[in-house]
Amino acid sequence: MSASIAIDSLPTVQPIVLPSLLQCDFANLEREVRTLEEAGVQALHLDVMDGSFVPNLSYGMPIVAALRKVTRLPLDVHLMIEQPQRYLRQFAEAGADLLTFHIEAAPEAGPLIDEIHSLGVKAGLALNPATPLGTLDAFLGDIDLALVMSVPAGFGGQKFHENALEKLQSLRSRVRPEVILEVDGGVNASTIARCAQAGARWFVVGSAIFGQPSYGDAVRNLTHLASL
Ligand code: DX5
Ligand code: ZN
Repeated sequence: MSASIAIDSLPTVQPIVLPSLLQCDFANLEREVRTLEEAGVQALHLDVMDGSFVPNLSYGMPIVAALRKVTRLPLDVHLMIEQPQRYLRQFAEAGADLLTFHIEAAPEAGPLIDEIHSLGVKAGLALNPATPLGTLDAFLGDIDLALVMSVPAGFGGQKFHENALEKLQSLRSRVRPEVILEVDGGVNASTIARCAQAGARWFVVGSAIFGQPSYGDAVRNLTHLASL
């Protein structure tokens, strides 16, 4: 497999839908990736959970490395783990193009953002629905992406929290134009347009792709709704 597609080449003004692989068929991971590529997705969203920061366990570096071997798509890695500083290097070496950690897990986020950048990777900061936006203020000048959780991190298939919309709007007016606003959780055909109007451009989608008969139809429909 040749080098991965540069994450810098992804759209930041036009909307993109990033599938969350939490609900994919892990026994056929490569086949799932091919189906998603054929569906037109431009990046993959990988949810790493440690059973401590969130009450659920998913996967870690080996799956990121395995995916890196079978796709050139940029890998957007969402770390839902305690003490994320322990693993930044390993995820970068596994092939992550963007590493997002939670402000609740590392309130003094500055050194982690610097380390991610020194590893040659883009840095994102995530916050849960219950966490005030002000917790990100000191770092807004340093991040490449802000991830507004529209469900409490931990599980796919939860109901969208409306307060994500206010956070997105507020962020959009305060961050540099090139900072990507990503929304994650309960994003589907009923909620995606409002997220787009609030300023989100990257849309993480689990159930509304993996529960559908055609990934391609789902991705196209959601992208269309986010573009209106
Ligand atoms: C939740 C994860 C999400 C999740 C999205 O903690 O970060 O990426 O898989 O799934 P849906 O779209 O089903 O809410
Ligand atoms: Zn996620």
